[in-house]
Amino acid sequence: MAENKSWVLMVTAQTPTNIAVIKYWGKRDESLILPINDSISVTLDPSHLCTTTTVAVSPDFTHDRMWLNGKEISLSGGRYQNCLREIRSRASDVEDEKKGIKIAKRDWENLHLHIASYNNFPTAAGLASSAAGFACLVYSLAKLMNVKEDNSHLSAIARQGSGSACRSLYGGFVKWIMGKDDNGNDSIAVQLVDEKHWDELVILIAVVSSRQKETSSTSGMRETVETSPLVLHRAKEVVPKRVVEMEEAVKSRNFPAFARLTCSDSNQFHAVCLDTSPPIFYMNDTSHRIISCVEKWNRSEGTPQVAYTFDAGPNAVLIARNRKVAALLLQRLLFHFPPQSGADLNSYIVGDKSVLMDAGIQDLKDVEALPPPPEIKDNVPTQKFKGDVSYFICTRPGRGPVLLTEESQALLNPETGLPK
Ligand code: DP6
Repeated sequence: MAENKSWVLMVTAQTPTNIAVIKYWGKRDESLILPINDSISVTLDPSHLCTTTTVAVSPDFTHDRMWLNGKEISLSGGRYQNCLREIRSRASDVEDEKKGIKIAKRDWENLHLHIASYNNFPTAAGLASSAAGFACLVYSLAKLMNVKEDNSHLSAIARQGSGSACRSLYGGFVKWIMGKDDNGNDSIAVQLVDEKHWDELVILIAVVSSRQKETSSTSGMRETVETSPLVLHRAKEVVPKRVVEMEEAVKSRNFPAFARLTCSDSNQFHAVCLDTSPPIFYMNDTSHRIISCVEKWNRSEGTPQVAYTFDAGPNAVLIARNRKVAALLLQRLLFHFPPQSGADLNSYIVGDKSVLMDAGIQDLKDVEALPPPPEIKDNVPTQKFKGDVSYFICTRPGRGPVLLTEESQALLNPETGLPK
């Protein structure tokens, strides 16, 4: 280690979140987090949804500490401990010549870490914050500790923090291969195509207002595996075929096949939740209304324009085949779900605002003037649900983890190693 005892070495990384289009639901090993089926996801653009994490090491630190969105949290949970242990065991020698720091492989066992993590979206919105969070923790620690393994190997560590986190180690479309080994070494994520492969896609997320406390994914999927007779059929018979078809649809950019598979798989995931005893309801009336709106429109067009998918909560993730369709989709969504009177349109539609421009909407007056979509014929006035959507996020498929090298982007003070 360095002669001079006082130093702090740190690394900052940014990692995206992801949304599954073929869902992971059910574990065959709870502590290693091994799934009962493969899953496929699309990574979301980190400019709109991501986690930033700074990890620091110093001989002055007395114990491992972590701050999430500025608040200190405990690292004693098994999932954090598993990730820290696995990463430490793969650490290598590190040398920073400029700072005169030398850390030998064996030193890492005795050095303590400070970790600060920040989500650029509300954690409470139910937008897979644990996926981006664990992926970023593992990725940034791997860089700090000079772990030589590639992202697929790192994905097997992030998986032990939260299953869906393993898919956030890559951009574009990603497959989590369930694997066969009992030790989980072959349960890893691989990239199917990068984010440039299908860059026409536009993703709109409706953050749906909900008063209900939802069942966590972890306990929900445990109850499903224990009680649902359908989930085994899904894992053994349905998903393996769908995964092959989905890979093909993604590789050939076949939107109708992609949309059909995405919607069916989301619906089947919610069906196995309903088949759980007691039943789990993640979607609410607003979610169902969004499904009907998309289904009606897709049917009237003769071929799917938009795919929908819902995770363990009521938020809708809508994938439009291109920008033109995204603008038409936003018009429809704003017709049915206008903001509360007096709301600020700028905070009602966040992310890539150019979709709003394409939709020809500049202010609330434009929203009020939207005509009913031609495919809805009856009961037009009763189909407006002001306030049922909290806000919309416009985004697109995005890249995988990156290092942030500017010191100004770090969340920890480079001298003290404490949050800035
Ligand atoms: C519905 O990865 O949150 O989002 O592995 O227990 O942490 P744990 O669960 P988690 O489950 C995600 C479930 C899902 C579907 C998916 O992302 O594939």
